[in-house]
Amino acid sequence: MKNGELGAMLEASVESVPRHESAFHKMIHRKTVLMLGFIPVLLFLVWELVHHSQWIVCNEVDFTSDQLQGFLAIPDSQCDTDPPFLCILVTTRHEELKERAAIRETWGKDRRVGERRICTYFLLGYDGVHQLDIERENQNHKDIIQSNFTDTYYNLTLKVLMGLECVDRFCSSAVFVMKTDSDMFVNTNYLTQLLSAKNTHSFFSGLLYNNMCPTRNKNNKFYVSEEEYPHQKFPPFCSRSGYIFSGDLAGAIWNISRDFPFMKLEDVFVGLCLAKLQVSPVNMISREVFFTDKVPFSVCKFRNIVTSHQVRPYENRLYWKELEESKDEGCS
Ligand SMILES: *[C@@H]1O[C@H](CO)[C@@H](O)[C@H](O)[C@H]1NC(C)=O
Ligand SMILES: *[C@@H]1O[C@H](CO)[C@@H](O)[C@H](O)[C@H]1NC(C)=O
Ligand SMILES: *[C@@H]1O[C@H](CO)[C@@H](O)[C@H](O)[C@H]1NC(C)=O
Repeated sequence: MKNGELGAMLEASVESVPRHESAFHKMIHRKTVLMLGFIPVLLFLVWELVHHSQWIVCNEVDFTSDQLQGFLAIPDSQCDTDPPFLCILVTTRHEELKERAAIRETWGKDRRVGERRICTYFLLGYDGVHQLDIERENQNHKDIIQSNFTDTYYNLTLKVLMGLECVDRFCSSAVFVMKTDSDMFVNTNYLTQLLSAKNTHSFFSGLLYNNMCPTRNKNNKFYVSEEEYPHQKFPPFCSRSGYIFSGDLAGAIWNISRDFPFMKLEDVFVGLCLAKLQVSPVNMISREVFFTDKVPFSVCKFRNIVTSHQVRPYENRLYWKELEESKDEGCS
């Protein structure tokens, strides 16, 4: 059939019915199709309404802004149902993704030493550039504590106080709390063993500084002005490798911190709070177990220290692997 012939036939068939009737039929036809098309959509909407509550229940933990109570992020700690023996707070910067990843795989793993649970959370302030990355990271790990303050070195005190507040409000069942940094190796096995023999109230330990004075030299990184701290001497404080304390002190320090003017030296600030609480920081044991330098690695050395400093992510993995693999071997 040629095109012309087909066109003629079609024209003839259309002409055989009155024009107005044809338009009417077309309209009916279109409406039917439209309505039929809507039926699945309607069914879906009804089904969704009926099943809506189930959808919410199945979701993973996602805190509403009410539950966050001023935080941008709090961890899914499960502290109510599974109280940690040791809760580790790691101060970290946004870009330290590799450091956090290594810590999660090694000494900061959510795990048990014997019966005792260890969990690790990362402390962050706000930094617009990295916020989306942090939110994505936190969706996978749910181990970040974050508040809306500018994330700078001189806001470290705010960062640590945020961690204490979070422990006090959402994880007060923690028996001990440690504050440390992202460039540390922490032997959490040995630390757990040492802590098992310690008082679970008003206990505070770390690398102890007993007789320190503020530096009034403006060029020093640790310069403290007379306005910031008028006294000649600092109270005893623990510094440079982290500190460890009984869970009750998280709330106590956080509470009393509001009575003091802000001080940017976070470890000294915590020392001031302790003095006010009449808690004296103590040595963990008579031998030093906190190291602020990089300790050369050996299995036997690392079994009996708590911290070593300046540890890169790959070193954390290496040390941890070595220690795990040689668990059953003795040291002469
Ligand atoms: C964080 O604080 C800034 C100003 O201090 C404010 O503009 C911003 O809305 C706050 N963001 C959130 C999520 O609270
Ligand atoms: C600390 O954070 C606050 C709140 O975001 C900000 O206003 C302040 O500038 C920060 N301080 C420093 C020293 O960065
Ligand atoms: C902190 O202060 C609040 C209110 O003042 C009080 O209820 C709470 O018991 C205090 N917590 C600690 C650990 O001292």
